[in-house]
Amino acid sequence: MTRPEDRPAWHALDAHRDAMMDTTLSTLFDQDPGRFDALQGEAAGIFIDFSKNHLLRAAAGAQEDTHALLVQLAVESDVAAKRDAMFAGAIVNPTEHRPALHVALRAPRNADIRVDGENVVPEVHAVLDRVCTFSERVREGEWLGFTGKPITDVVNIGIGGSDLGPLMATEALAPFAHERLSMHYVSNVDGSHLVSVLKRVNPETTLFIVASKTFTTQETLTNARSARGWFLESKATDKDVARHFVAVSTNDEAVSEFGIDTDNMFGFWDWVGGRYSLWSSIGLSVALCIGPERYRQFLAGAHAMDRHFAEAPLESNLPVTLALLTVWYNNFLGCNSHLIAPYDQYLHRFPAYLQQLTMESNGKSVHVDGSRVDVETGPIVWGEPGTNGQHAYFQLLHQGTHVIPTDFIVPLESLNPLGEHHELLLANCFAQSEALMRGKSGDAVRAEMRDAGRSDAEIDALVGHRSFAGDRPSNTITVQRMDAAALGALIALYEHKVFVEAAIWDIAPFDQWGVELGKQLAKTVHSELSAGKTVSSHDASTNGLMNRAIKRRGLLA
Ligand code: F6P
Repeated sequence: MTRPEDRPAWHALDAHRDAMMDTTLSTLFDQDPGRFDALQGEAAGIFIDFSKNHLLRAAAGAQEDTHALLVQLAVESDVAAKRDAMFAGAIVNPTEHRPALHVALRAPRNADIRVDGENVVPEVHAVLDRVCTFSERVREGEWLGFTGKPITDVVNIGIGGSDLGPLMATEALAPFAHERLSMHYVSNVDGSHLVSVLKRVNPETTLFIVASKTFTTQETLTNARSARGWFLESKATDKDVARHFVAVSTNDEAVSEFGIDTDNMFGFWDWVGGRYSLWSSIGLSVALCIGPERYRQFLAGAHAMDRHFAEAPLESNLPVTLALLTVWYNNFLGCNSHLIAPYDQYLHRFPAYLQQLTMESNGKSVHVDGSRVDVETGPIVWGEPGTNGQHAYFQLLHQGTHVIPTDFIVPLESLNPLGEHHELLLANCFAQSEALMRGKSGDAVRAEMRDAGRSDAEIDALVGHRSFAGDRPSNTITVQRMDAAALGALIALYEHKVFVEAAIWDIAPFDQWGVELGKQLAKTVHSELSAGKTVSSHDASTNGLMNRAIKRRGLLA
């Protein structure tokens, strides 16, 4: 195995970084009128302007071309072969001995994608057809609750990938939601989450989706049991559970043990990772919300991005470009945090969704062969919708000591045209990336203050506070309208970006062993808290906290 930092392109990028350190983004734009046209791309309805990044262009007179050097790193890292292996159903999740075939979930009916020699696409479409038929019945008011009334509320009980994806997508596509159906998501084992939803729904007209790939997740099963208890406290009886509880899982046995008829279960497969499961029957709540036709458009949008990722040359491949930029900042320019700033209120859960996608995938410290990684891997991903962020954390982006590469995401057309709102939204989005890049020099501040009649003493005191270093990089991603197809393509773009980063760092993106330790310890701590005895088997802090809780909650036997 060649370690990433031993690749010739890695060394070349190291040297290139040293040579370009003094070149600012503003200078690059001032010297190169063709920069915007050259550093952009479009595929599957997604347009990306990546010109506001620290990339030198050979075509604009630079000795070396940063993007070309980065692409060379992708070539040396076998990105294309690794991508092809993923699409072909190879074991790309070696620690769990599985393929990762979320691309099969959005492939057209006539595709042929094999796992152990068997084409999985017919099975995928059989489940998708069941999801669509069921959704239609609920939406049309044919699927009735135990007192004969149509369903009005859907409660998805799940966590992680079994929650964040469907929640994000139903919020993002809210303008297309069915008028009668209200969607609710319960994930937190904090009883307040479930209780607050149950206060708003009626057992006679509520459908619960218990969504769990493994059907062993403590939080989900606890919430599901309590929801069933609440349901049975109404006039409903055990036989009515079948009309009000469906399951989405890979684990038939655990589903029937829980008491849900497997006729009311929508399956999927172990080759679908939790954080990639939105495209499987885990998307049931999305199909219920936006309807089968739009749900299929959502899958088709993702498939269009899959084709682009699979077929476009590395140098014009959008997920590859975004990944290379992250590697450039993360590993060469010392920026370990990445901001996702959607200028679209409906995308308010998109940063949280991407947090799981990227941090659960690439939060790794060993290479695929188990040896220790010596370079930085996945950055910290975070975000909140603009323009709200501008009035909160953007201060740090503009004047803080950390440089945080940012993805601005904005639809060119609003789904709710209202006066000049959308022009203002676009203006804010474009102005922020310009301000981050251009900054404001001390001279400009001095001139402005002088014109405003401020004294020299005042100017000297304030000039540092009012100047902006600028030179802060960003991508701007636009779509025409954030409809189902555009959202599908946008999510797939980031999925593949994360995959390419992992390929370059030579880490395993499809497992998540890091979440296991906490789960194991929580079981032990839970049984000790419930035993009602003083605890002494942990470190002093954990013992102290547990004993305080046991005492203060009156649990001491
Ligand atoms: O604990 C992490 C995790 O396994 C995620 O990867 C997954 O999305 C989530 O928990 C939920 O798992 P499940 O769908 O099996 O309940």
